[in-house]
Amino acid sequence: MTPNPKKSAGEHAANCVTHDMIVGLGTGSTAYFAIVRLAERIREEALRIRCIPTSERSATLARELGIPLTGFDEVLHVDVTIDGADEVDPAFNLIKGGGGALLREKFVACASETELIIVDESKLKARLGAFPLPVEVVPFGWQVTRRRLRDLGCDARFRASDNGPFVTDNGNYILDCSFRVIQDPPALERAIAGTCGVVECGIFSGLATRILVGRSDGTVEERAEPEKSG
Ligand code: A5P
Repeated sequence: MTPNPKKSAGEHAANCVTHDMIVGLGTGSTAYFAIVRLAERIREEALRIRCIPTSERSATLARELGIPLTGFDEVLHVDVTIDGADEVDPAFNLIKGGGGALLREKFVACASETELIIVDESKLKARLGAFPLPVEVVPFGWQVTRRRLRDLGCDARFRASDNGPFVTDNGNYILDCSFRVIQDPPALERAIAGTCGVVECGIFSGLATRILVGRSDGTVEERAEPEKSG
């Protein structure tokens, strides 16, 4: 059978989890495999963990699989979060939010000691920006927010679902912003965060601490950490 790189990366990441950890559960088709493997380890090895999901979708999956959940009313610190990404650059900057879960994903990443990103090779890019950058915005006056984002140099498109607007778990909208090439991800992240009407932006700079890449031959490679500048 042909190896599935997302599955290999997800399972490898889940195998790094140890007893008594608080684990952030990512969202998306790669994080799915990590969640399934964690459930397997809970059943087979009595792995003792509690998890915080980054979306309602992942929460539902975790509950169905019998994974014990917790929340920020009980813990303030996450040991490791395992999550996917839409693009990864050599400096460990990410684009996330293709599935629309960017706000909780970034929130949980910020509370995590280790942010373990799992991807297949197609997500590795020399520069971010080919994937339209998801930006979560408040519904009130979203058209004005879109114009402000367009002023930053992108083509910002309103995300729709089959039944109207795509609404996030937090009751907000998503604008997918096509910048084509993002020259300076941390600077753009700050500029978007400072835009009135924006709740969160899908650039994650300075958050990923480990990156696991699933290869088509079934192997999983850990990317070397980028050198810190300054
Ligand atoms: C969810 O909102 C996203 O941030 C996902 O983590 C990202 O889109 C990667 O998804 P896949 O693993 O499905 O490619």
